[in-house]
Amino acid sequence: MKKIIILLCVITFGCKTQKIAVQPTGLLANEAMVVSAREEASKIGVEIMKKGGNAFDAMVATELALAVAYPYAGNLGGGGFMVYRKANGEKGTLDYREKAPLAATKDMFLDPNGNVIPGKSTQSALAIGIPGTIAGVFAVHAKLGSLPIEEILKPVIELAERGVVVTQKQEERLNDYRQELTKINGSNSVLSKVYKEKDTIKYPALAATLRRISKNGRDEFYKGETAKTLVDYLQAKGAIITMEDLAQYEAKWRTPLSFKYKDLNIISMAPPSSGGICLAQIFKMIAPYDLAKMGHNSSQAIQVIVEAERRAYADRSYFLGDPDFVKIPLKALMDDNYLKQRMANFSFDKATLSSDIKEGNVNYNESMETTHYSIVDQFGNAIAATTTLNAGFGSKFYCDELGFLLNNEMDDFSAKAGVPNMFGLVGNEANSIAPQKRMLSSMTPTIVEKNGKLLMTVGSPGGSTIITSVLQTILNVYEYNLSMQEAVNAPRFHHQWLPDLITFEPNTFSTQTFDALKAKGYLINEKTTPVIGKVDAILVLPNNKLEGGADFRGDDTAVGF
Ligand code: DON
Repeated sequence: MKKIIILLCVITFGCKTQKIAVQPTGLLANEAMVVSAREEASKIGVEIMKKGGNAFDAMVATELALAVAYPYAGNLGGGGFMVYRKANGEKGTLDYREKAPLAATKDMFLDPNGNVIPGKSTQSALAIGIPGTIAGVFAVHAKLGSLPIEEILKPVIELAERGVVVTQKQEERLNDYRQELTKINGSNSVLSKVYKEKDTIKYPALAATLRRISKNGRDEFYKGETAKTLVDYLQAKGAIITMEDLAQYEAKWRTPLSFKYKDLNIISMAPPSSGGICLAQIFKMIAPYDLAKMGHNSSQAIQVIVEAERRAYADRSYFLGDPDFVKIPLKALMDDNYLKQRMANFSFDKATLSSDIKEGNVNYNESMETTHYSIVDQFGNAIAATTTLNAGFGSKFYCDELGFLLNNEMDDFSAKAGVPNMFGLVGNEANSIAPQKRMLSSMTPTIVEKNGKLLMTVGSPGGSTIITSVLQTILNVYEYNLSMQEAVNAPRFHHQWLPDLITFEPNTFSTQTFDALKAKGYLINEKTTPVIGKVDAILVLPNNKLEGGADFRGDDTAVGF
């Protein structure tokens, strides 16, 4: 028995031997799969593929089904990013991130003395950015979809009418947020009411909005009756979004950000998400170290990863913003020599202090709550999409007439250089507010290829911890031979340069590990040990079956056939 346990430990956490056949532990499917934050949404995505639809049709259905079943983050009033890889190897990404309204100003969240007004960028109607989700799903459908939009939206509308059964976790979340939701929307609003596990919440207003969108198309949301109702609602609440703002909104196809880690090719989101670039920097900085030999979540491996994270987040803070507004030295930031230099002052003997790290010296002259879902279809197309309202239930502003919540994404801008936002992230001029600009994101929908073939689609919510959660999940599979589900389950840690603290998930790392790190001068966040990320991923196994990794930290569920 003891021998078997030792053997299992070696296989699971020990040396990197790619030849070891890893036993899958997540849901297996032969052809197609959706992993998302709610079973209802995963099922609807799969239903669309069973009808002959592709991953892009399933993306539209899943995204909007999450707006019904998971209003905590799924949305019509928010935005997101999608990375895809077609069966023929072609890749692309879509940016349907919110934008600042035309009337936004750089100092809109500051008082006359130039200080940030607490709560204004998160809890006021000024926190709301122009929503991008409907533009996003229609752009995906127009370019890559195959079924008629009415057919795709039908099960979503039916779900909104039939209602969604409250889970235990949802009951807890609604309880946590009820006071704030009621303060803004009154006690009669759908999400202000008291629900218990197993109750059903129906969304008739949302069903009607989706039916109009299904009939009239994308412009219903940006120019039609829905747009007018939305703008009337927003202006009555003190927001500055106008009909012109909605009419001007466009989702954007952007060049994917790709890089190599050993024999993996990793494809992720370019700015205005910081996800891809930070992921690339961290992977490249850790590549020279034998993490597998150091051991999974060992203090040495944590040191290497934390030091790379510290340096990447310092660059994020200084250089990154909306590429339509600021020049981002992408190539220089991903340059192998630059990143080697960046790690040159790291020593295993002693922590580098964040106060000793600034953004790197690069050459400019070169041309809780978000939700992630992963899809692979029966044709071999893959999708990674992350969408958000920013905070849980966004700004909490719920338009009763239209049946959806609005985001508070304006907080992702840097309201003032050096002052942390709700994720403790600090920013700079590159991410300052300007009309029509997109706020910097950490969302990291990512697809991994090996030997030119699809290996994994992965992503997570979690604000600033998204990037590090995606990183660890890929490492868990690739360096530590964990199954997809085990890789998602494994305890995570996080460092983001400032504050200079390593945060660990609760009750998962040993005091010996903490002591070893403390002895080297690492500062450990022992007060708040939150859940870090909520990863939903799909792995293509050597026999071409799909293994789902659905995060137990939420109600996340894999469905496939
Ligand atoms: O775009 C971003 O980086 C944030 N608005 C994401 C928010 C988020 O993940 C909240 N989830 N815990």
